[in-house]
Amino acid sequence: MTDLQNYGPWVVIAGGSEGVGAEFARLLAAAGLNLVLLARKSGPLEDTAEQCRAHGVEVRTLAVDLVDSSAIDGLFDATADLEVGLLIYNAGANTCSEQFLDGDLADFQRVIDLNIGAAMRLVQHYGRPMRDRRRGGILLVGSMAGYLGSVRHTVYGGVKAFGRIFAEGLWLELRDYNVHVLELVLGVTRTPAMERVGLNFDVPGMRVAEPVEVAREGLEQLPNGPVYIAGGNGDDVARRNDFDRAKVVLGTHRFMQKLLGGN
Ligand SMILES: NC(=O)c1ccc[n+]([C@@H]2O[C@H](COP(=O)([O-])OP(=O)(O)OC[C@H]3O[C@@H](n4cnc5c(N)ncnc54)[C@H](OP(=O)(O)O)[C@@H]3O)[C@@H](O)[C@H]2O)c1
Repeated sequence: MTDLQNYGPWVVIAGGSEGVGAEFARLLAAAGLNLVLLARKSGPLEDTAEQCRAHGVEVRTLAVDLVDSSAIDGLFDATADLEVGLLIYNAGANTCSEQFLDGDLADFQRVIDLNIGAAMRLVQHYGRPMRDRRRGGILLVGSMAGYLGSVRHTVYGGVKAFGRIFAEGLWLELRDYNVHVLELVLGVTRTPAMERVGLNFDVPGMRVAEPVEVAREGLEQLPNGPVYIAGGNGDDVARRNDFDRAKVVLGTHRFMQKLLGGN
């Protein structure tokens, strides 16, 4: 069992209001860590914060769009007085599912800004003092989409691939400083965001994880970076790493089409 006290006294969760992020918040509050929760919608943010406060910890909330760089300046101001021992970067589901040539570049850019630009800013800002203190953790939530190209995921798959490679390098750079880095790779997970986009979780043959399970796995595996495949999807990821890229990309595409009832 991971000793979560090593990651206190404060935890910043980017995307900490719903789904996996809210489960991280509840687990960490139950372990006695104070929280800064970030998300755009203030309703779910306050609901999760209240549940966490019931454990007797301090919780600050900030309704921010992480794609807005001035909002990130505000976040840094609002946390300047805190010793942050753990950063969890969970926000980052796909927000532009057009085929690449049909989509708006500005919409794709927001996917890049959220998953790469904002994540890099937060990691550098909160990671530097962790390295100085020789203690801390950085957990990035990734996706199996980052292991191969797929239709309508050209940019999303790319940013998730970036996240994994970034985490691996960061893990190497920080391992001598006792700062744990983990990319927690998720498959399909039953989150409110996925429910809102109408994902059918009941497709036979589709493995669906629950947010609380993968959050728990992430905290357990945090000292064992750089990458952990949650939800029992390790074999599927191994298949996606085949060097014959046409075989694996087309094979997975055809399987997904069958699963989702397409052509
Ligand atoms: N669910 C899945 O099936 C699945 C599969 C593979 C990987 N993942 C990964 O798991 C992570 C969480 O995904 P999710 O399904 O829970 O959806 P999500 O849309 O990333 O939402 C997660 C949290 O992030 C917040 N958020 C989203 N966009 C934000 C923004 N621009 N600024 C600030 N906060 C933002 C959400 O609250 P607000 O909406 O109020 O901002 C919510 O609290 C993502 O990194 C995703 O890539 C998910």
